[in-house]
Amino acid sequence: MTPNVLIIGAGMYVLGRDDRDLGTILPTLLQEQAKGEIGEIFVASSRVTSAKAGLEKLKILASKLQVGPKVKFFPAAQDNHEEYLKIAKETKNLIAIVAVPDHLHFKITNDLLDLGIPTMVVKPFTTTLSDAIALTKKAQGKKIFGAVEFHKRFDEANILLKDALTDNKIGDLLYVLVEYSQKRLIPLEVFKEWSAKTNIFQYLGVHYVDLIYHMTGARPVRVSATGQKNLLLAHGIDTYDSIQANILWEARSGKNFNSVFLTNWIDSNKTSSMSDQKIKVIGTSGRIESDQKNRGLQMVDGEGIEDVNPYFSKSFKKKDGCYVDGYGPKSIRQFLQDCKKRTYSATATFADAVISASVTEAVGESLRSNNQWVEIKHNLIKDFLNVQ
Ligand SMILES: NC(=O)c1ccc[n+]([C@@H]2O[C@H](COP(=O)([O-])OP(=O)(O)OC[C@H]3O[C@@H](n4cnc5c(N)ncnc54)[C@H](O)[C@@H]3O)[C@@H](O)[C@H]2O)c1
Repeated sequence: MTPNVLIIGAGMYVLGRDDRDLGTILPTLLQEQAKGEIGEIFVASSRVTSAKAGLEKLKILASKLQVGPKVKFFPAAQDNHEEYLKIAKETKNLIAIVAVPDHLHFKITNDLLDLGIPTMVVKPFTTTLSDAIALTKKAQGKKIFGAVEFHKRFDEANILLKDALTDNKIGDLLYVLVEYSQKRLIPLEVFKEWSAKTNIFQYLGVHYVDLIYHMTGARPVRVSATGQKNLLLAHGIDTYDSIQANILWEARSGKNFNSVFLTNWIDSNKTSSMSDQKIKVIGTSGRIESDQKNRGLQMVDGEGIEDVNPYFSKSFKKKDGCYVDGYGPKSIRQFLQDCKKRTYSATATFADAVISASVTEAVGESLRSNNQWVEIKHNLIKDFLNVQ
């Protein structure tokens, strides 16, 4: 049966930051609707003003993507933080995508599971390990499919990296180096209402925690983290500018490897891309390096210089209008397929995301306890580890 889709949240990831940025979730779903893969689309935000702005943006999307959309935006009359509940209760054959600020993922996802609705949550799954476990147990108990949109699993560079590790091309892993940062306009402008309620490791670093787990099946063992509060604090936002973390893992072979994460979200707004992202994996018989910022496409025009990532989420011109594609849209399409066919692919399940939540929580604990090593709570995560 063709499902209807409820999107909760109407921000940057759903429909873009400005008229030039088409966003990821809504354009992907509009294209699927045009193909007949899904029925109606509902977008629930919490404010009437964002519902109205969404409706305006829909006109741009419909014209650029050349689709005749069936989309309803809420709330219509009055601001309401629980508007999504009305639609979730009233609509038959519904699946949901939760794209609200990090600290709200748990409550909204929990409400949707109570109503029996298959749900995809954007990363990070939750902000605490206990919340991640509670949602996973509820979904498993009620046999509802729950996914987390860890789209880096769908980046072809990372698929090849995973294949190489699976084929043991570089021997036993010794260490992994991840560098991941974004422009300061993200915490200072785009997320200014909620950036103090998350941290840069939980918001961004978590992507590569999930990726390392997905690629290796290794078990996180212990964590130590340092961080600096400087520039954002001076702007009245009490969160870390940068977090550096060491995560020790036990590979399936039983041997240990280390991963070092260097993250920040105070890069200059003039830097040449929104995200600077690199991963290096070093083993006993080789190394694999992937610069996931410099993909070999640099554009310079009157507005400045940009290193373009053509593979995440981009609009491409076609004969009439354009289409949106990339590993972001691909991960959303895969969720739709997973719901239909019930054959779960590379999509991260709630159980998978418990592992990344155990690491982000331990990083927070280490930051609060003078950078001490913090053991991952193995007794709490062991039932969710993927032990093929
Ligand atoms: N922007 C990206 O590229 C990206 C990519 C992947 C994941 N994410 C994740 O997606 C989530 C949202 O990110 P964003 O960039 O869209 O943020 P944003 O701040 O631009 O948008 C958040 C949206 O949530 C809405 N919202 C807040 N409370 C709500 C409620 N109770 N009910 C309904 N809507 C509510 C806000 O009105 C706003 O429209 C975050 O968890 C982020 O980590 C973002």
